[in-house]
Amino acid sequence: MQLADHVELAEFFRKTFGPTGAFNAKPFEGSRSWAGARPELRAIGYDPRGVAAHLGLLRRFIKVGAVDVLVAELGLYGVRPDLEGLGIGHSIRALHPVLQELGVPFGFGTVRHALQNHVARFSRHGLATIVSGVCVRSTLPDARLDKPSTRIEDVLIVVLPIGRSMCDWPSGTVIDWNGPEL
Ligand SMILES: CC(C)(COP(=O)(O)OP(=O)(O)OC[C@H]1O[C@@H](n2cnc3c(N)ncnc32)[C@H](O)[C@@H]1OP(=O)(O)O)[C@@H](O)C(=O)NCCC(=O)NCCS
Repeated sequence: MQLADHVELAEFFRKTFGPTGAFNAKPFEGSRSWAGARPELRAIGYDPRGVAAHLGLLRRFIKVGAVDVLVAELGLYGVRPDLEGLGIGHSIRALHPVLQELGVPFGFGTVRHALQNHVARFSRHGLATIVSGVCVRSTLPDARLDKPSTRIEDVLIVVLPIGRSMCDWPSGTVIDWNGPEL
């Protein structure tokens, strides 16, 4: 990606995440096109007006209970506000062959509880399973003197079985990202 691509994406994220709370748009100042960790791969949809949708991916080990699990983390998920409601959820399906090619046992993402219906749509076809009752701990992107270094959130977990099946997903109810999330 070139600098101009980062600048265009940063603007896209400010406009897309801004309406969910000014704080959520804050990381994307200037040319910064990531919030915490940086994706290794991005699925970007364009239309004549520029960036239309984005999904980021990063392979990493998370700890589920006491078990280290290799996952492809999915995050930085958004649709330009004027294109909402057109079914971006279905694009997760398009990413499936990519996840298989990357050789990961699982795809993994978190969403806020308000998006339960949204993720339920694509989990209905067995593509993903929603796990609730789990809390996740991640590291803040920046080390600061005035804040704790980690944050704990109660969110919905979305697991996509890729190389393994859902019965291989550990049963732990605390998930540690071992670093900042995407
Ligand atoms: C979340 C997001 C990607 C969904 O995009 P979308 O184009 O609306 O998705 P779809 O068309 O596939 O699905 C629409 C359904 O998602 C749900 N949904 C979408 N946005 C929602 C929101 N803000 N709150 C609650 N539910 C929402 C609704 O159930 C909606 O169903 P409906 O059509 O019956 O009302 C988009 O709203 C977005 O980019 N939001 C800002 C960034 C963000 O919050 N990203 C997720 C981070 S976890």
